[in-house]
Amino acid sequence: MGDQVKLNAGGTEFDYPVLKGSVGPDVIDIRKLYAQTGKFTYDPGFTSTASCESALTYIDGDEGVLLHRGYPIGQLAENSSFMETSYLLLNGELPSADELATFENTITRHTMLHEQLANFYRGFRRDAHPMAIMCGVVGALSAFYHDSTDISDPEHRKISSHRLIAKMPTIAAAAYKYSVGQPFVYPDNKLSYTGNFLRMTFGVPAEEYEVVPAVEKAMDRIFILHADHEQNASTSTVRLAGSSGANPFACIAAGIACLWGPAHGGANEAALNMLKEIGTPDKIPHYIERAKDKNDPFRLMGFGHRVYKNYDPRATVMQKTVREVFDALKVTDPLFETALRLEEIALNDPYFVEKKLFPNVDFYSGIILSAIGFPTTMFTALFALARTVGWVAQWNEMISDPGQKIGRPRQLYTGPTQRDFVPIGQR
Ligand code: CMC
Repeated sequence: MGDQVKLNAGGTEFDYPVLKGSVGPDVIDIRKLYAQTGKFTYDPGFTSTASCESALTYIDGDEGVLLHRGYPIGQLAENSSFMETSYLLLNGELPSADELATFENTITRHTMLHEQLANFYRGFRRDAHPMAIMCGVVGALSAFYHDSTDISDPEHRKISSHRLIAKMPTIAAAAYKYSVGQPFVYPDNKLSYTGNFLRMTFGVPAEEYEVVPAVEKAMDRIFILHADHEQNASTSTVRLAGSSGANPFACIAAGIACLWGPAHGGANEAALNMLKEIGTPDKIPHYIERAKDKNDPFRLMGFGHRVYKNYDPRATVMQKTVREVFDALKVTDPLFETALRLEEIALNDPYFVEKKLFPNVDFYSGIILSAIGFPTTMFTALFALARTVGWVAQWNEMISDPGQKIGRPRQLYTGPTQRDFVPIGQR
């Protein structure tokens, strides 16, 4: 028998098995707890709860390690492409050259949207946030692609996964085009996944668009850095939505809605807005004091993480990529100096040191994205685009798991106990 944990509930002892992963903390299997003790566990925010078994992504937050299928994020960012990393996440192993070519070809051939979706876009106000459009359009895909929504069929799941990964750049670029009043640009199959996205976003029908290789590489790397992040809020949302048997397009729309929040994917937009508000390095101490003040809701956006209690390894790559993009585009941004100085001051401040608050992936991403030409409102949409592969890989893993059950948390009820209804005239 493996390790057990003993629990004494009401004078009776119960044994609970300890399950071991390949690496990382063991988990106490409490599935029988309620049946045996009549008690639930209480863990709002899931700070101590593993909600599923997964073989996709591993994070060691104390050491600042992030692995996809065992490969460190730094190595993938340096040597891989977003398409190759997507294949890895979906299939478990790095592809051969032929497998990668086939995968890229398949994704490329799913990039177009049903033409009627153009009318769907026209229903939005021009000043709609791109994430509002993304939630709506991705959810609407289920009304257009009925032939791939039988989730019990692995082939359907594969096709809808490919469709989602392939169409996301087209959807995000169209959200941008709509906001600036320019015509939608159709995909061009000659280009890479990322080159295509840049052309659909910044190209116009009147002119040839030339993809700048350094920008394409930086953008592709940003996609790799956002591809998956184990059981974060939006991924858990996708899993929970999918656990009821909902179709994948609806599930990913739910993930997009969750990602939008400023504590999650919306932090990249919030981080750049914060840097703009701070403006120059001399104002930093004032904002540091505000971040430390319990009576002030202000937080340093792009700082802190539920899991990383060390430098976010994605932030390291992001910081390096800022310089590469600046060099390639021959631009600078004084906000980068402000960000570097803010990081230095925060990392030497006892408040941030004690609470182990370090820059996360969002701290530098906004600076790069704005240098490339994206408005801040697009930042979270780009995160959604890249995270789609993680969402579909996690969703597929969940549906393929024979032990999969509908997600149904319990609660600690603190409302009124049963009482009789009082007619309105007697209240
Ligand atoms: N600035 C100032 N204080 C902070 C910050 C911050 N950015 N983050 C956490 N703290 C403090 C917080 O006030 C709390 O203090 P105390 O223990 O005295 O009450 C302590 O640190 C722990 O914070 P928490 O909110 O209990 O931690 P959490 O794990 O629930 O929250 C977080 C994690 C990411 C939501 C939070 O750090 C935060 O709001 N950061 C800013 C938003 C951000 O950058 N989010 C992007 C996350 S990375 C991208 C992604 O995965 O989406």
